[in-house]
Amino acid sequence: MTRDTAAAARQKARIVLIGTGGTIAGRGASPVNTSAYDCSVLSIDDILADLPVADSLADITTEQLFQVGSENFGNVQLLQLGKRIASLLERDDIDGIVVTHGTDTIDETAYFLHLTLKSPKPVVVVGAMRPPSALSSDGPLNLYNAIVVAASRLAHGKGTLVVSNDEIHTARDVVKTNTFKQDAFKSPYGPLGFVVEGKPVFYRLPARPHTVDSEWSINEIEALSHVGVVYAHGGMNDAIVRAILDSGVKAVIYAATGNGNVAVSIVASLVEARKRGIHVVRGSRTGGGVVIRNAAQPDDLYDWLVTDDQPAHKARILMMLALTREHCTRKLQDVFWRY
Ligand code: SIN
Repeated sequence: MTRDTAAAARQKARIVLIGTGGTIAGRGASPVNTSAYDCSVLSIDDILADLPVADSLADITTEQLFQVGSENFGNVQLLQLGKRIASLLERDDIDGIVVTHGTDTIDETAYFLHLTLKSPKPVVVVGAMRPPSALSSDGPLNLYNAIVVAASRLAHGKGTLVVSNDEIHTARDVVKTNTFKQDAFKSPYGPLGFVVEGKPVFYRLPARPHTVDSEWSINEIEALSHVGVVYAHGGMNDAIVRAILDSGVKAVIYAATGNGNVAVSIVASLVEARKRGIHVVRGSRTGGGVVIRNAAQPDDLYDWLVTDDQPAHKARILMMLALTREHCTRKLQDVFWRY
């Protein structure tokens, strides 16, 4: 029997559910605690036990990799999670992965996986804005939908996906945009599709390379460089910039105002940064649009980069990966255009 006919003969996909903590693993003192509760207290087995209907979707095995709020995810966790998923995806007896994750940095982790996993098998990262103990928690349905997507052939080859509020987002585009609402996740160009009545429906594809077509492989990355983010505001002086430059960063993402405008009070410190070998990436704090190279600032003259359309926190992930292979400004800029 070929692998495809074997898969067709099988009734259910084989999914590994990896728990890492977050609100989806949280518990409040009362059902009305929708926004104030303890995070990362339920195990992945507890979460799954509350969703018996998931058994009808897939043969599910569980792993508890971490039990932390996602604000605590650092490069160590990204690498550990990525390598674990990569080794699971290599197995013929596993069809897809679902990762339960805090929502705060879910977009960063998902983007990292999207760019470094070398498999077309579905990987879905899912969280919840309300803990399972809260009235109208989104946790159970989000998890159900995530398993639906991970178990579907339709999700093959689409990279890492974030499923939330009935929507399927590409990891490249999705951003958390709200502190407490259930429709917190938005992609600037819209979701790829929806989950409707337990069925995934896709309407568009990720346009930029990912997973098997990206230049990074999680198995080849042992460490990531320190890349910092500076958030611009009115009345800024350069003290914060100089402090970050002295902290050992290899690059700084400057989340500038508007279309990458840099205050006169800041320009000298960023010019000096580049002279010290630290890359400077001009982004925007607006949360939308592209930063135009050589428009608000002479990037060619200063040897700076621009983020294209990525928000600063996701530009940081891309820059950390870019720095694993490139140090030349032109090639690093190509990475932002390409991904
Ligand atoms: C976290 O990101 O771990 C806390 C918040 C959440 O999961 O919604």
